[in-house]
Amino acid sequence: MNDKITEHGAESCCITDAKFHSCEIKGEFSENNMSGCRFERCNLSGSALAESDMTGAVLDKVNLTGAEFTGCDLSGVNISDCKLEGAEIDGISIKELIEFYKNNHKENKAMKKNVRKAIIAGNWKMNKTRPEAKALLEELKPMVADVNDVEIVACVPFTNLETALNVTAGTNIKIGAENCHFEKSGAFTGEISADMLAEMGVEYVVLGHSERRQYFAETDETVNKRTKAALAAGLKPIVCVGELLWERECNITEEVIARQIKLDFYDISADDLKKCVIAYEPVWAIGTGKTATADQAEEVCAFIRATLAKLYGEEVAESITIQYGGSMNAGNAAELVSKTNVDGGLIGGASLKAADFTTIIMAAHNG
Ligand code: 13P
Repeated sequence: MNDKITEHGAESCCITDAKFHSCEIKGEFSENNMSGCRFERCNLSGSALAESDMTGAVLDKVNLTGAEFTGCDLSGVNISDCKLEGAEIDGISIKELIEFYKNNHKENKAMKKNVRKAIIAGNWKMNKTRPEAKALLEELKPMVADVNDVEIVACVPFTNLETALNVTAGTNIKIGAENCHFEKSGAFTGEISADMLAEMGVEYVVLGHSERRQYFAETDETVNKRTKAALAAGLKPIVCVGELLWERECNITEEVIARQIKLDFYDISADDLKKCVIAYEPVWAIGTGKTATADQAEEVCAFIRATLAKLYGEEVAESITIQYGGSMNAGNAAELVSKTNVDGGLIGGASLKAADFTTIIMAAHNG
């Protein structure tokens, strides 16, 4: 229909599933069955609809200014992109209602962010000899000594763990490893078990880093096994997920991330998930100087949280710390960690300089 239905109105008509497109609809409509009707780009301003069944109707890009609905059944009505100036439901302005909801929702999210402690973790990768590790941590200690609202972690090579634990003993800097094997012990030359790390006093362990996946053939299946082994040993896993550049270009970022989350945390209970940290590290941003924009990071971190909510429920999802990693530095950290779903960072290159790492920690501290 593409009509001008002015001043006429209709009474006791059955107009189910009708489609009105670009119509001007004025007058009085009462006791009609208008269920399933679709109104697109119509002007309903000044019309009055009473005692009508409008269940499941769709109103898209409709001007509803001054329209009156009384005693109608509006269940399941879908209103989108409509002009709602002066519109009220039982005397309450719809615009104000929407505004109120949006603000509360935002505040709610921000409050939940405040509940999660930000975690800024350095991933040193294959860098630093023992004397260099000692010097870096000695320099860092006094710079961050007063920070108590941010969890500070240094994930260091296996050879530096003992040094790092000794230098940071009694401080607010926690120590993590960069990987662990999934078996408890046995003939696995060159590997380190989760129990070996836990016994030393190591608290965190990075798992599923893209460099491990890329250069050492680690898969979601072994990341899942490692995560379970780390949890069984009492370690806190920092599980890394992230898409390759061509996966982003092919527009499948969300599919890739959802798959990694589902597989990496397969068969892990909600209680155990709460002990994990997730690091979103887009592979194209790691060590390339190409950071994801704060909005891109927020978008994927929010997607990770939504995926967790589907798997574990909203309450669990809201409690999980989700970090961003990939060329995070002293210059861009503040904007990244200001985002609602970005609860910190996993930092490579910039964690090797005490001053830069401190600036990133302070960004989360002040944020
Ligand atoms: P960069 O900060 O050097 O890009 O590395 C990020 C990373 O891989 C942290 O795990």
